[in-house]
Amino acid sequence: MSKSESFSVNLKENRLFPPSEAFVSTANLKRDEYEKQIEIGRKDPEGYWAAAARELKWIKPFSKVLEWNPPFAKWFSDGRLNASENCIDRHLEKNSQKTAILWEGEPENEIVRWTYSDLHDRVIRLTAGLRKLGLKKGDRVAIYLPLVPESVVAMLACARAGLTHTVVFGGFSADSLKDRMIDAEAKAVLTADFGYRKGAKIGLREQVEKAVEYAPTVKHVITLSRADVGTTKSGKSSAAIGKIEGAQEYDWYGLSSSFSKSEAENDGKAEAVEAEHPLFILYTSGTTGKPKGIVHSTAGYLTGAMRTTRDVFDLKPNDLYWCTADIGWITGHTYVTYGPLALGATVFLFEGAPTTPTPGRFWEMIERHKISILYTAPTAIRTFMKLGSEWPGKSDLSSLRLLGTVGEPINPEAWMWYRETVGGSRCPIVDTYWQTETGAIVISPVPGAVATKPGSATFAQPGFDVDVLDKQGKPVPLGEGGYLVIKKPWPSMARTIHGDPDRFKQAYFSEYSGGIYFTGDGGRRDEQGYLWCLGRVDDVLNVSGHRLGTMEIESALVSHPRVAEAAVVGRPDDLKGQAIVAFVSLKADSVKMLGTDEVKLKALKEELRSHVGKEIGALAKPDDIRFTDALPKTRSGKIMRRLLRELATNGVVKGDTTTLEDLGVIAALQAKDDD
Ligand code: WTA
Repeated sequence: MSKSESFSVNLKENRLFPPSEAFVSTANLKRDEYEKQIEIGRKDPEGYWAAAARELKWIKPFSKVLEWNPPFAKWFSDGRLNASENCIDRHLEKNSQKTAILWEGEPENEIVRWTYSDLHDRVIRLTAGLRKLGLKKGDRVAIYLPLVPESVVAMLACARAGLTHTVVFGGFSADSLKDRMIDAEAKAVLTADFGYRKGAKIGLREQVEKAVEYAPTVKHVITLSRADVGTTKSGKSSAAIGKIEGAQEYDWYGLSSSFSKSEAENDGKAEAVEAEHPLFILYTSGTTGKPKGIVHSTAGYLTGAMRTTRDVFDLKPNDLYWCTADIGWITGHTYVTYGPLALGATVFLFEGAPTTPTPGRFWEMIERHKISILYTAPTAIRTFMKLGSEWPGKSDLSSLRLLGTVGEPINPEAWMWYRETVGGSRCPIVDTYWQTETGAIVISPVPGAVATKPGSATFAQPGFDVDVLDKQGKPVPLGEGGYLVIKKPWPSMARTIHGDPDRFKQAYFSEYSGGIYFTGDGGRRDEQGYLWCLGRVDDVLNVSGHRLGTMEIESALVSHPRVAEAAVVGRPDDLKGQAIVAFVSLKADSVKMLGTDEVKLKALKEELRSHVGKEIGALAKPDDIRFTDALPKTRSGKIMRRLLRELATNGVVKGDTTTLEDLGVIAALQAKDDD
């Protein structure tokens, strides 16, 4: 990871918004208690987290708290538990009839409401079904689904059987799915025929079919008919319904409904797994190579998920809580499924695009269901801002009491718009900073205790030892930029990269010694001690809140027969946070063939965009492709991204170019920019 970047530390934001008295009066964590928790977390982090872990339901209680052999941590390792039991069974005694999941499909009027008892029934049946196929504790199972309530069932059924799930976002291509399934050695995949997005049917099974052909470990495909969402039975039988080259296909509800109630209860019993048993692998982009399979534990992960959900979202029994993330991302794992369900909350889910059929869709659903907590991404907020305040203005949003954001830095303008237009100036905003690797929120205001400041994620959560260091590992003075680190282990931290512990060490624990975790982000503390998370300082892009490695996009481009070399950089973008700019040099024969034929070059740009879409997924398609004769490189042959970034952003390069091998390259790129 390179720490060659400088930080923009020109943020001067000093408006403070303390929570209202009305909010404070009912808050779970008021200022005194919050300060006490911060103090306990600082003095005795292990004690703090052990107390949080005791709030889980244990099958065998733990006696050990932390074993730390940097960079490898074990938490609560001699205990046994099951994540699905924590998310479902323990609420059944008192709250079996409480709504667990309320879902709206993208086509309007399609609503599913499941109680905890309904969720239990679906989960035990699928667990029994997965076992019937011969899947056993420790096996890996891929999940490739639209955002339907069954996606939560899939995760919990895997957890129940001790299967490690790996959810792949439905927007990723067959190739990306294949790579992940091969890396995880998945034995089965749960999918659906299609889902809805912006009014279109997005086929998933067809991608699975392509992926499975090259992923030889996958022997079972369980396919949900989109038409069966929310039902209990399907018209189809439990027997294999189709054959996908190399695997057997089963109908989801056919399989699930092949058991009597007592069979399902028996065969769907929760496996008592070790605390450190891998609950899931989630692939995320890094600076080098293919996406990394981040491995999360069961007990430590669940402890972090549950505690931060309780504190940050101030969850109450009668809240209707909506985190808009897809389950394909870590936010969907921790704050759609595991955190809120472990607390027995009612979770709202929405399948579709926020603007379908109209830009008022989000706000209409908030009014329709009286949603009280909304957790979304800055990119969505900026999009809504652009669409105009009249859209939220058409709906009654008075049910909202708390707003959250995640995924990228939020600019103060968007923060203020969110506060005033969506939150009616009455709802606190929790700007939550965290990562796939941290498993749970690390920096965020606790809403009843901390005065917020637009654009700042404020303070570390209790139990997290966050700091801002310089390159040498010294804390930087207040007001100055540095590198965001976590100095002590925490329970929900990633355990390793699947199959590559060295890479785990290299990626996160090599910048600093002594077991200090480097986030890859820049940060600073302002004069009041408020933390500002300034975004990536490495070659990871954040496009609409989605993480993408520049290397991944470059490899996708280079795999096209016409491309010789490619360099990808981010350019600031008002809506997406960052836009993807690709500098591409073509192979000599292609240059000869295409010459300066504008029509052909334009067509090739389109072809390259689709090629990236096919290799990775639509979310990685470059916004801008620029052809160039050569890329600017240092004398040692490294592409000088800093210069390309400057060029992509400002159109000119003023930075230091003394290590450049061929200055003519920059001049040529600049000239092209003037065209
Ligand atoms: C960025 C998403 C500023 C950051 C949960 C981090 C943020 C990356 C914030 C992780 C925030 C996330 N303020 N930046 N509130 N939240 N980030 O793994 O650069 O998809 O490293 O996890 O998103 O992205 P990931």
